Amino acid sequence: MKCDCMYLTPQEERMLEGEYRPSVQKSMEILVALGDIYNAERLVNITSAQVSGVSYKTIGDAGLEFLEDMAKDARIMVPSTLNPAGVDLERRDLGFSDEFTKRQLKIVEAYRKMDVTTTCTCTPYLVGNVPVKGDHVAWSESSAVAYVNSVIGAKTNREGGPAALSAAICGKTPEYGYHLDEGRKASMIVEVETEIKGTDYGAVGYLVGKAVGDGVPYFRFKNTSKTDDLKSLGAALASSGAVALYHVENLTPEYEFALEELEISEKISVGRTEINEIREKLSTASGKPDLICLGCPHASIEEIKSIADKVAGKQLKNELWVCTSISVKAVADRMGYTDIIEKAGGKMVCDTCMVVAPIEELGFQVIGVDSAKAANYVPSMCGLDVVFDDFENLIKEK
Ligand code: F3S
Repeated sequence: MKCDCMYLTPQEERMLEGEYRPSVQKSMEILVALGDIYNAERLVNITSAQVSGVSYKTIGDAGLEFLEDMAKDARIMVPSTLNPAGVDLERRDLGFSDEFTKRQLKIVEAYRKMDVTTTCTCTPYLVGNVPVKGDHVAWSESSAVAYVNSVIGAKTNREGGPAALSAAICGKTPEYGYHLDEGRKASMIVEVETEIKGTDYGAVGYLVGKAVGDGVPYFRFKNTSKTDDLKSLGAALASSGAVALYHVENLTPEYEFALEELEISEKISVGRTEINEIREKLSTASGKPDLICLGCPHASIEEIKSIADKVAGKQLKNELWVCTSISVKAVADRMGYTDIIEKAGGKMVCDTCMVVAPIEELGFQVIGVDSAKAANYVPSMCGLDVVFDDFENLIKEK
């Protein structure tokens, strides 16, 4: 294959012409085709990748075959981590079938052979995949994309799984979209007229994501926000819209640049009434759920501490899953939070989540979530009802 669409260095030409491994040539073909579609002028070197397309529930046998084929000779060139899988890679008491688990483990093994770190988390920035401001990266999990662009200030498009894997194999990605300064300017100002906390962030993100689509919202909040708040906000923005980047005044690293020399005519205001309306709309059921699933995106150690504080000494009647990465769970184990949660009847669930695991096969009817992204996806991806609320309101005690 020849590339007439963008500039390639002599080494990139050789990669494309097949002088390296077949997987390098295949990956370069994917990157060049993408660059062609989006009118990129060149490829840029990346410092890390985050690869989605892991759950057997979402990629099926075709995905497994593709990955096993790639794994015959593909090896990644930059540090790369993996999105959540369809099961906890270690615990076997959640009820998933042996057949599903077997195929899921084969997918993870294919990635392991390619040297992709099998962290299986959507919060790679909590477990060591942490670029610095200005780095070009190729990440694919939409909530992680929103976080790394907005909170860290690294640069990535919303990559599909194969594109992120191709970028990891070549160490490069086409330079367009959010890799360019013009793609990172704000397109809409959002005045949040009331103080918000907890699940409000997800509700605001859901509402603004619908309004802004694939634009770049610039938030003015009445209160300061923590990184966990921004994690929820970005996940919701990316799920109801296609937001990959947002700015928060006086907080995120590019907020001054985002408005520089710009007249923005598009402005929206969000008040308590709108937030409460969205909170109601996100629930498809009422009452207490039979399973509460927290950790969308995967829980941080601070969030796990807060969950442990809320269930300490209680006996829960509903099942509780706290979804996180194996690395964050290791810290929770050491801090005693896992013990407190499990004594209350909860389970720490690693490597997977309520959306990409086949929870619809486990007999639950109503899932309780405190994440707007999960509330948005559980009905469509799992066919189950959701109640969206703060954790303390979802709990049913024995
Ligand atoms: Fe992560 Fe699953 Fe939510 S991948 S962002 S916990 S839907």
